[in-house]
Amino acid sequence: MLWGNFPPAFWSIGEGMQSRSQSKKLLDHNKKYIPGGVVSVNRATQPEIAFARGEGAHIWDVDGNQYLDYHAAFGPHFLGHNDPYVTETVITTLRENASLFGAGTTALEGELAELICKHVPSAHSVQLLNTGSEATYQAIRLGRAVTGRDHIIKMQGGYNGWHNDVACNLMTPLNDLGPRVSPGEYPFKAISAGIPLEHQALVHSVNFNDLESVRYVCEKYPIAALITEPILQNIGIVKPEPGFLSGLRELADEFGFVLIFDEVKTGFRHAVGGYSSLAGVAPDLVVFGKALANGYPIAVLAGRADMMNRFVDPSASRRVLLAGTYNAHPVPTVAAIATIKRLLMNDGEVYRHVEALGVAMQKGIEEIFSKLDITGVVARQGSAFCPYFMDHCPTDWHDLARHHDFTTDVIFRRILIEHGVYAFPLATKQWSLSSAHTMADVEVTLEQIENALAVAFASLQDQVS
Ligand SMILES: Cc1ncc(COP(=O)(O)O)c(C=O)c1O
Repeated sequence: MLWGNFPPAFWSIGEGMQSRSQSKKLLDHNKKYIPGGVVSVNRATQPEIAFARGEGAHIWDVDGNQYLDYHAAFGPHFLGHNDPYVTETVITTLRENASLFGAGTTALEGELAELICKHVPSAHSVQLLNTGSEATYQAIRLGRAVTGRDHIIKMQGGYNGWHNDVACNLMTPLNDLGPRVSPGEYPFKAISAGIPLEHQALVHSVNFNDLESVRYVCEKYPIAALITEPILQNIGIVKPEPGFLSGLRELADEFGFVLIFDEVKTGFRHAVGGYSSLAGVAPDLVVFGKALANGYPIAVLAGRADMMNRFVDPSASRRVLLAGTYNAHPVPTVAAIATIKRLLMNDGEVYRHVEALGVAMQKGIEEIFSKLDITGVVARQGSAFCPYFMDHCPTDWHDLARHHDFTTDVIFRRILIEHGVYAFPLATKQWSLSSAHTMADVEVTLEQIENALAVAFASLQDQVS
């Protein structure tokens, strides 16, 4: 079972937690005006909770329940919620000048672009947008423009935004996908209605860590661009095997496609230079969002200056349209500047702190697995991790879908929420530590994880007996 369709009263609300009557009231109200009561489809999840406040490593719901947060709003809050330095900088900007001019340029956007070019090795030129989806859209369009080709490659199990090119082949049920193919490609499996068939024919999905399939597709179609997260972080933490990212670089050079690293989740969370700086592989274009501004809406498309210059090419037939009323709005722009400055402080102390927490968390969870005789591993990169109920860290979506116990994963997460620890209650979703978490938070979390796993396995046992 992929999505975990369980009876609501499968377990009870944890000790010390209030009922969620106010959450229910608010959701019922919002459902009258917003389809489903939520403004992003994934937010419709069980248990239904309306949140009211976030501070550091904690979030509170409208009924006053407090949770240690490992969701981080799908990743942005790398410095924790409401980081004082970022918040103060934003407040000052709001007081002094947060106007939008929509003409010419501003000092803030130049400052942010310079910071990024200075610290991200593959960023020679930068454009500022609002969301990761806009940035991946523009990256792919730019890839098509510079190559004069239409086909693209994406990874099965990768998420790169909601638009037509990439809204496909994420957590595709294996029944729909068929067996693992290599070398080869998977059929387009949309995650949205409304994608024209003509468009679908241009998108080729292959498994992560499968260079042979990339070569196979390149030999068959004129590929404009390949887009991939350098670590698949929308199905937990699926890391590149040694040689995979550099192999993509070599294939890009051999076949002439544009290599796009989607660092919306990995960027700034793993290093200021992005995961590509740790891997030592330079993409042609790179996309950032999320942790870049610790929760404020901004995204970056950066890369080779010769490619990026297409956005201002004097020839109308060569120029790629990049436009946006809110691009480089001063509030998210200054939030990004403040976030990067925070990340650079004390020679990257933030990264050493979250690494120590991550090591303790991974070790602690793996010890609990072994104490409770549970088959499980923790895949981790720095502050981002994912416990899997399988005996090895997955290398691609097929490996994960075939071996991971999705039912236990969802039940475990839901019980944990009732114990005051919020990891997103959908199987395989990434857990995110922040610099606001402490070793004491990790200890409390480990205690609750042990409790929740014991309850989860007892509940599952009851269900089968
Ligand atoms: C790797 C990756 N790319 C792109 C996106 C899209 O970003 P946004 O939600 O800001 O449009 C996401 C969002 O989760 C993501 O994880």
